[in-house]
Amino acid sequence: MIIDGKELSARIKQELAAQVVSLKEKYGRVPSLVVILVGENPASQSYVRGKIKACAECGFDSTLITMPESVSEAELLAEIERLNGDEAVDGILVQLPLPKHIDEEKVIDAIALEKDVDGFHPLNVANLWLGKPCILPCTPKGVMRMIQECGFEVSGCNAVVVGRSNIVGKPMAKLLLDANATVTIAHSRTKNLAEVTSKADILIAAVGRPRMITAEMVKEGAIVIDVGVNRDAATGKLCGDVDFEAVKDKAAHITQVPGGVGPMTITMLMGNTIECFERKMNK
Ligand code: GUN
Repeated sequence: MIIDGKELSARIKQELAAQVVSLKEKYGRVPSLVVILVGENPASQSYVRGKIKACAECGFDSTLITMPESVSEAELLAEIERLNGDEAVDGILVQLPLPKHIDEEKVIDAIALEKDVDGFHPLNVANLWLGKPCILPCTPKGVMRMIQECGFEVSGCNAVVVGRSNIVGKPMAKLLLDANATVTIAHSRTKNLAEVTSKADILIAAVGRPRMITAEMVKEGAIVIDVGVNRDAATGKLCGDVDFEAVKDKAAHITQVPGGVGPMTITMLMGNTIECFERKMNK
């Protein structure tokens, strides 16, 4: 069975839009998100368009700030500082990756914790690992929601996350651990990767290598979630980390690329923006 991220996202966005209507009645304004895009990376441009469009669908205010590739780190940091102090802004997102001359870590650290809708700020990450209230990173949060949708008992199962990035792999493992899965993080140095992945009741692929998860690597009846967004070298089309055509008959539930995790990430961002808005309003 295919877990349709687009359909699930549309459903959740409808719920969020209804929530925004009552927030407007209660507080007199709607949540507002600012997205900063530096440079002209086509993938980033496309993601950012998706985020701004989702804001409109949910009834948020949104602002897209574009900056040239040549912008200095100091200019970007000054803009973030200004937005941190702007009472009308609830969430700030700086689209990654940034040009090489800008220190990504410095930029993430500069975003006010209470406006960190990505959940990337070090204090947010610390709170996540300490089990304290925090903004959850969007992609892992969306993946958990998709797993829930399968009606699968996560507690006690074997979950394998392939990939160990700060944005996906590591927080993904923590959320699965919080749901009482037995979690393995595999990566490029893992020996006998197929042996590890074939024990997974839940397999999350987040490596960025086109179709590297083949049918032999997947347990019969597993849930397979594909976080990869790659370009097929031959066709130029988008493809995931999972060889979908081969794996779909073996998995009980599987996501597609596109139309799987991507839309869910954006939808979770909308939820996070509402969370930041509400926290501010209730302070
Ligand atoms: N680049 C790729 N994924 C993300 C994300 O979730 N947030 C931001 N800010 N940049 C990204």
